[in-house]
Amino acid sequence: MATPVQQEPLFIIMLGAPGAGKGTQARMLSEALNLPQISSGDFFRENLKNATPLGLLAKQYMDTGALVPDDVTIAMVMDRLTRPDCANGAILDGFPRTLPQADALDKSLAAKNLQVQRVALLEVSDEAVISRLAGRRVCRDCQAMYQVEFNPPKVEGVCDVCGGQLYQRSDDAPETVRNRLFVYYKQTAPLVGYYFAHSVLVNIDGEQPMEKVRADLLAAIRAA
Ligand code: AP5
Repeated sequence: MATPVQQEPLFIIMLGAPGAGKGTQARMLSEALNLPQISSGDFFRENLKNATPLGLLAKQYMDTGALVPDDVTIAMVMDRLTRPDCANGAILDGFPRTLPQADALDKSLAAKNLQVQRVALLEVSDEAVISRLAGRRVCRDCQAMYQVEFNPPKVEGVCDVCGGQLYQRSDDAPETVRNRLFVYYKQTAPLVGYYFAHSVLVNIDGEQPMEKVRADLLAAIRAA
Protein backbone atom coordinates (compact mmCIF):
# COMPACT_ATOMS: atom_id res chain seq x y z
CA MET A 1 0.00 0.00 0.00
CA ALA A 2 1.32 3.46 -0.92
CA THR A 3 2.44 5.60 2.02
CA PRO A 4 0.61 8.95 2.06
CA VAL A 5 2.98 11.84 1.25
CA GLN A 6 3.31 14.12 4.28
CA GLN A 7 3.09 17.70 3.00
CA GLU A 8 5.19 20.32 4.77
CA PRO A 9 3.04 23.11 6.26
CA LEU A 10 2.76 25.94 3.73
CA PHE A 11 3.32 29.50 4.97
CA ILE A 12 2.72 32.12 2.31
CA ILE A 13 3.09 35.88 2.71
CA MET A 14 1.20 38.44 0.66
CA LEU A 15 3.39 41.53 0.32
CA GLY A 16 2.57 44.77 -1.44
CA ALA A 17 1.47 48.37 -1.07
CA PRO A 18 -1.92 49.27 0.41
CA GLY A 19 -4.58 48.40 -2.14
CA ALA A 20 -2.29 46.06 -4.10
CA GLY A 21 -4.88 43.29 -3.76
CA LYS A 22 -3.39 41.33 -0.84
CA GLY A 23 -6.73 40.77 0.90
CA THR A 24 -8.59 39.91 -2.31
CA GLN A 25 -5.99 37.34 -3.33
CA ALA A 26 -5.41 36.00 0.20
CA ARG A 27 -9.10 35.20 0.40
CA MET A 28 -9.03 33.34 -2.92
CA LEU A 29 -5.85 31.44 -1.95
CA SER A 30 -7.32 30.54 1.41
CA GLU A 31 -10.23 28.83 -0.36
CA ALA A 32 -8.08 27.24 -3.07
CA LEU A 33 -5.48 25.84 -0.65
CA ASN A 34 -7.75 25.31 2.34
CA LEU A 35 -5.51 27.34 4.62
CA PRO A 36 -6.58 30.10 7.03
CA GLN A 37 -6.17 33.73 5.94
CA ILE A 38 -4.48 35.67 8.71
CA SER A 39 -4.93 39.40 8.21
CA SER A 40 -3.43 41.73 10.83
CA GLY A 41 -5.55 44.61 9.50
CA ASP A 42 -8.77 42.55 9.86
CA PHE A 43 -7.75 41.66 13.44
CA PHE A 44 -7.32 45.30 14.34
CA ARG A 45 -10.62 46.29 12.68
CA GLU A 46 -12.46 43.44 14.45
CA ASN A 47 -11.02 44.58 17.80
CA LEU A 48 -12.00 48.15 17.06
CA LYS A 49 -15.55 47.08 16.21
CA ASN A 50 -15.72 45.37 19.61
CA ALA A 51 -14.05 48.37 21.31
CA THR A 52 -11.36 46.19 22.95
CA PRO A 53 -8.24 47.87 24.42
CA LEU A 54 -6.24 46.47 21.46
CA GLY A 55 -8.72 47.96 18.98
CA LEU A 56 -8.65 51.37 20.66
CA LEU A 57 -4.86 51.37 20.72
CA ALA A 58 -4.65 50.32 17.05
CA LYS A 59 -7.13 53.04 16.03
CA GLN A 60 -4.68 55.79 17.04
CA TYR A 61 -2.24 54.50 14.41
CA MET A 62 -4.64 53.28 11.72
CA ASP A 63 -6.45 56.62 11.56
CA THR A 64 -3.29 58.30 10.26
CA GLY A 65 -2.00 55.37 8.20
CA ALA A 66 0.88 54.66 10.63
CA LEU A 67 1.82 51.12 11.65
CA VAL A 68 0.71 49.69 14.99
CA PRO A 69 3.84 49.11 17.16
CA ASP A 70 5.77 45.91 16.47
CA ASP A 71 5.53 44.43 19.98
CA VAL A 72 1.72 44.53 19.95
CA THR A 73 1.41 43.28 16.37
CA ILE A 74 3.96 40.49 16.71
CA ALA A 75 2.36 39.16 19.91
CA MET A 76 -1.09 39.18 18.29
CA VAL A 77 -0.06 37.31 15.12
CA MET A 78 2.23 34.82 16.89
CA ASP A 79 -0.64 33.93 19.20
CA ARG A 80 -2.95 33.41 16.20
CA LEU A 81 -0.40 31.09 14.55
CA THR A 82 -0.50 28.73 17.52
CA ARG A 83 -4.15 27.81 16.84
CA PRO A 84 -4.81 24.31 15.48
CA ASP A 85 -6.15 25.54 12.13
CA CYS A 86 -2.58 26.69 11.27
CA ALA A 87 -1.18 23.16 11.53
CA ASN A 88 -0.96 22.92 7.72
CA GLY A 89 0.18 26.52 7.23
CA ALA A 90 -1.47 29.89 6.62
CA ILE A 91 -1.81 32.77 4.19
CA LEU A 92 -0.40 35.86 5.90
CA ASP A 93 -2.03 39.05 4.64
CA GLY A 94 -0.50 42.33 5.83
CA PHE A 95 2.00 40.67 8.17
CA PRO A 96 4.97 41.00 8.37
CA ARG A 97 5.43 44.61 7.30
CA THR A 98 8.61 45.58 9.14
CA LEU A 99 11.98 43.84 9.41
CA PRO A 100 11.50 43.08 13.15
CA GLN A 101 8.14 41.44 12.31
CA ALA A 102 9.78 39.32 9.57
CA ASP A 103 12.56 38.32 11.95
CA ALA A 104 10.07 37.36 14.69
CA LEU A 105 8.08 35.24 12.23
CA ASP A 106 11.19 33.45 10.94
CA LYS A 107 12.37 32.69 14.46
CA SER A 108 8.98 31.43 15.57
CA LEU A 109 8.67 29.11 12.53
CA ALA A 110 12.30 27.95 12.78
CA ALA A 111 11.67 26.91 16.39
CA LYS A 112 9.21 24.37 14.95
CA ASN A 113 11.49 23.46 12.02
CA LEU A 114 9.24 25.39 9.67
CA GLN A 115 9.83 28.25 7.26
CA VAL A 116 8.12 30.70 4.92
CA GLN A 117 7.87 29.01 1.49
CA ARG A 118 6.71 31.88 -0.71
CA VAL A 119 6.40 35.66 -0.49
CA ALA A 120 4.21 37.03 -3.25
CA LEU A 121 4.97 40.66 -4.03
CA LEU A 122 1.91 42.16 -5.73
CA GLU A 123 3.23 44.98 -7.89
CA VAL A 124 0.81 47.86 -8.54
CA SER A 125 1.53 51.50 -9.40
CA ASP A 126 0.82 54.28 -6.89
CA GLU A 127 -1.81 55.72 -9.28
CA ALA A 128 -3.67 52.39 -9.38
CA VAL A 129 -3.53 52.14 -5.57
CA ILE A 130 -5.03 55.59 -5.10
CA SER A 131 -7.84 54.99 -7.59
CA ARG A 132 -8.62 51.47 -6.30
CA LEU A 133 -8.84 52.56 -2.68
CA ALA A 134 -11.03 55.56 -3.49
CA GLY A 135 -13.58 53.08 -4.88
CA ARG A 136 -13.18 50.21 -2.40
CA ARG A 137 -16.29 49.11 -0.48
CA VAL A 138 -16.32 46.42 2.22
CA CYS A 139 -19.23 44.45 3.69
CA ARG A 140 -19.83 45.22 7.37
CA ASP A 141 -20.94 41.64 8.02
CA CYS A 142 -18.84 39.22 5.94
CA GLN A 143 -15.95 41.56 4.88
CA ALA A 144 -16.46 40.74 1.17
CA MET A 145 -14.64 43.33 -0.93
CA TYR A 146 -15.86 45.36 -3.89
CA GLN A 147 -14.52 48.08 -6.13
CA VAL A 148 -17.08 50.43 -7.62
CA GLU A 149 -15.37 50.41 -11.03
CA PHE A 150 -13.65 47.00 -11.41
CA ASN A 151 -15.78 44.76 -9.21
CA PRO A 152 -19.06 46.50 -8.31
CA PRO A 153 -21.83 44.86 -6.26
CA LYS A 154 -25.02 43.97 -8.16
CA VAL A 155 -27.00 46.46 -6.04
CA GLU A 156 -25.21 49.62 -4.93
CA GLY A 157 -24.31 49.56 -1.24
CA VAL A 158 -25.45 45.94 -0.72
CA CYS A 159 -23.22 42.86 -0.40
CA ASP A 160 -23.85 40.21 -3.11
CA VAL A 161 -22.76 37.45 -0.72
CA CYS A 162 -24.79 38.11 2.43
CA GLY A 163 -26.95 41.20 1.78
CA GLY A 164 -24.96 43.19 4.38
CA GLN A 165 -24.33 46.92 4.17
CA LEU A 166 -21.21 48.09 2.32
CA TYR A 167 -19.03 50.83 3.79
CA GLN A 168 -15.91 52.76 2.91
CA ARG A 169 -12.92 52.33 5.24
CA SER A 170 -12.02 55.60 6.97
CA ASP A 171 -8.32 55.04 6.16
CA ASP A 172 -9.19 55.01 2.44
CA ALA A 173 -9.52 58.81 2.49
CA PRO A 174 -6.99 60.13 -0.11
CA GLU A 175 -4.75 61.96 2.44
CA THR A 176 -4.52 58.83 4.61
CA VAL A 177 -3.81 56.65 1.57
CA ARG A 178 -0.89 58.90 0.65
CA ASN A 179 0.53 58.48 4.15
CA ARG A 180 -0.01 54.70 4.03
CA LEU A 181 1.99 54.63 0.78
CA PHE A 182 4.74 56.69 2.40
CA VAL A 183 4.82 54.30 5.37
CA TYR A 184 4.89 51.34 2.97
CA TYR A 185 7.96 52.61 1.12
CA LYS A 186 9.75 53.53 4.33
CA GLN A 187 8.99 50.56 6.60
CA THR A 188 7.68 47.67 4.49
CA ALA A 189 9.52 47.90 1.15
CA PRO A 190 12.83 46.77 2.80
CA LEU A 191 11.17 43.35 3.16
CA VAL A 192 11.45 42.92 -0.61
CA GLY A 193 15.25 42.71 -0.30
CA TYR A 194 15.00 40.60 2.84
CA TYR A 195 12.86 37.91 1.17
CA PHE A 196 14.77 38.12 -2.13
CA ALA A 197 17.92 37.26 -0.14
CA HIS A 198 16.04 34.29 1.34
CA SER A 199 15.14 33.10 -2.22
CA VAL A 200 11.40 32.98 -1.52
CA LEU A 201 10.27 36.17 -3.29
CA VAL A 202 8.07 35.97 -6.37
CA ASN A 203 6.98 39.09 -8.27
CA ILE A 204 3.39 39.14 -9.48
CA ASP A 205 1.87 41.77 -11.78
CA GLY A 206 -0.99 42.95 -9.57
CA GLU A 207 -2.48 45.25 -12.21
CA GLN A 208 -3.87 42.36 -14.22
CA PRO A 209 -7.50 41.27 -13.83
CA MET A 210 -8.11 39.50 -10.50
CA GLU A 211 -8.48 36.04 -12.07
CA LYS A 212 -5.15 36.37 -13.89
CA VAL A 213 -3.42 37.51 -10.68
CA ARG A 214 -4.91 34.48 -8.93
CA ALA A 215 -3.69 32.09 -11.66
CA ASP A 216 -0.16 33.55 -11.54
CA LEU A 217 -0.11 33.25 -7.76
CA LEU A 218 -1.23 29.63 -7.77
CA ALA A 219 1.37 28.77 -10.41
CA ALA A 220 4.10 30.45 -8.35
CA ILE A 221 3.06 28.63 -5.18
CA ARG A 222 2.89 25.25 -6.90
CA ALA A 223 6.38 25.82 -8.27
CA ALA A 224 7.73 26.42 -4.74
P1 AP5 B 1 -4.47 46.53 6.18
O1 AP5 B 1 -5.89 46.26 6.39
O2 AP5 B 1 -3.52 45.40 6.11
O3 AP5 B 1 -4.35 47.48 4.94
P2 AP5 B 1 -3.28 47.56 3.76
O4 AP5 B 1 -2.06 46.73 3.84
O5 AP5 B 1 -3.04 49.01 3.63
O6 AP5 B 1 -3.96 46.87 2.61
P3 AP5 B 1 -5.42 47.08 2.13
O7 AP5 B 1 -6.36 46.24 2.93
O8 AP5 B 1 -5.74 48.54 2.03
O9 AP5 B 1 -5.29 46.59 0.63
P4 AP5 B 1 -5.06 45.16 0.01
O10 AP5 B 1 -3.68 45.06 -0.54
O11 AP5 B 1 -5.51 44.09 0.95
O12 AP5 B 1 -6.02 45.29 -1.23
P5 AP5 B 1 -7.52 44.75 -1.43
O13 AP5 B 1 -7.49 43.30 -1.74
O14 AP5 B 1 -8.39 45.24 -0.33
O15 AP5 B 1 -3.92 47.49 7.34
C1 AP5 B 1 -4.65 48.62 7.78
C2 AP5 B 1 -3.88 49.28 8.91
O16 AP5 B 1 -3.76 48.34 10.03
C3 AP5 B 1 -2.45 49.70 8.59
O17 AP5 B 1 -2.40 50.98 7.97
C4 AP5 B 1 -1.82 49.69 9.99
O18 AP5 B 1 -2.19 50.83 10.71
C5 AP5 B 1 -2.48 48.47 10.65
N1 AP5 B 1 -1.71 47.23 10.42
C6 AP5 B 1 -2.13 46.14 9.72
N2 AP5 B 1 -1.18 45.20 9.71
C7 AP5 B 1 -0.12 45.70 10.41
C8 AP5 B 1 1.18 45.20 10.71
N3 AP5 B 1 1.59 43.99 10.32
N4 AP5 B 1 2.00 45.99 11.46
C9 AP5 B 1 1.60 47.20 11.91
N5 AP5 B 1 0.39 47.74 11.62
C10 AP5 B 1 -0.47 46.99 10.88
O19 AP5 B 1 -7.89 45.53 -2.79
C11 AP5 B 1 -8.07 46.93 -2.79
C12 AP5 B 1 -9.21 47.30 -3.74
O20 AP5 B 1 -8.80 46.98 -5.09
C13 AP5 B 1 -10.51 46.50 -3.48
O21 AP5 B 1 -11.61 47.34 -3.72
C14 AP5 B 1 -10.47 45.36 -4.51
O22 AP5 B 1 -11.76 44.95 -4.90
C15 AP5 B 1 -9.70 46.01 -5.67
N6 AP5 B 1 -8.86 45.08 -6.42
C16 AP5 B 1 -8.13 44.04 -5.93
N7 AP5 B 1 -7.47 43.41 -6.91
C17 AP5 B 1 -7.78 44.09 -8.07
C18 AP5 B 1 -7.38 43.92 -9.44
N8 AP5 B 1 -6.56 42.94 -9.84
N9 AP5 B 1 -7.89 44.80 -10.34
C19 AP5 B 1 -8.74 45.81 -9.96
N10 AP5 B 1 -9.16 46.00 -8.68
C20 AP5 B 1 -8.65 45.16 -7.75
